[in-house]
Amino acid sequence: MAFKERVFSGVQPTGNLHLGNYLGAIKKFVELQDSHDCIYCVVDLHAITVWQEPAELTHNIREVTAAFLACGIDPKKHIIFNQSQVAEHAELAWIFNCIARLGWLNRMTQFKEKAGKDRENASVGLYAYPNLMAADILVYRATHVPVGDDQKQHLELARDIAQKFNNDFASSIAGHGFGDAFFPLPEPLIQGPATRVMSLRDGTKKMSKSDASDQSRINLTDDAETIALKVRRAKTDPHPLPGDEKELAERPEADNLVGIFAALKGISKGAVLNEFGGAQFSAFKAALVELAVAKLGPIGAEMKRIIDDKAYIDSILADGSARAQVMAAETMKSVKDIVGLVRR
Ligand code: TYM
Repeated sequence: MAFKERVFSGVQPTGNLHLGNYLGAIKKFVELQDSHDCIYCVVDLHAITVWQEPAELTHNIREVTAAFLACGIDPKKHIIFNQSQVAEHAELAWIFNCIARLGWLNRMTQFKEKAGKDRENASVGLYAYPNLMAADILVYRATHVPVGDDQKQHLELARDIAQKFNNDFASSIAGHGFGDAFFPLPEPLIQGPATRVMSLRDGTKKMSKSDASDQSRINLTDDAETIALKVRRAKTDPHPLPGDEKELAERPEADNLVGIFAALKGISKGAVLNEFGGAQFSAFKAALVELAVAKLGPIGAEMKRIIDDKAYIDSILADGSARAQVMAAETMKSVKDIVGLVRR
């Protein structure tokens, strides 16, 4: 059976939305609106897998919503909502806790990185995080998931969970008129020149919300002056930009800046090198500043404008949640029947 194409993705409200989140994810969310039905979620239940100050969490949920809106996601044609307002995410996650195997979760590199050395002290939620992520996607039976490269392993796990559910319950799925598969195997969309934006201070480290150095990232709310300063101070090597991509791949900082330029402009890295191959970093950085300020300046300004209107943001989330919930409830009804749970 062919599944209806549907896009789902999420962003954690953990502060400091940055250029990596924009180029790796949110910019793609915007582009997919023309071709797909899209559901974009502020994943607040994921955020609390590590400690969040309650007032800051509330602010950050609104800030991610403001970013979605400022970047151009249409909340009427598509759906913008926060995860905790649709209880079915947590409900399906429990079913998936019973489907996923410990061995699968033990392989997750993000858990290892986030839990660090003190693994005994990490929350159970942090460990089970990928199961909730699978539930986010599959509670809408979504088929396509735009994400940055760091989410690839989680997406593979979501596919494994979908597949095992379909296999384990094959006989009851057949009895419910869904063909031979209830869940689609969701496809990650990880494409383009900036699927993994790196730190401006270290080309071998991912740009991240939690990096102690604010100089390592460009935040979506940075003003023009701050963007310019950060780009000018970005780490580089002493050589001019190379003319071909093979050489570029061996120079992490240069590769990162060229990737950022390409993604912001909507061209390939090769096209950037055609223009700037042989140029000094000073000239290239000046062009990058101009481009980054032109693209990000209006987004930051719009975010700051929207964020002050809490009532408006909360109404978007309430409306989106209500529409999402109808779809999620429909899935849960079928899931309960398939699993054999008695329901009202
Ligand atoms: P999160 O909140 O860490 O990041 C949001 C999105 O931004 C991408 N991203 C990057 N892309 C390129 N370069 C970077 N340096 C960079 N840093 C972050 C992420 O890949 C992501 O697409 N687990 C997810 C949230 C989530 C989700 C989901 C995503 C929860 N449920 C269901 C898709 C579907 C996360 O922590 O993203």
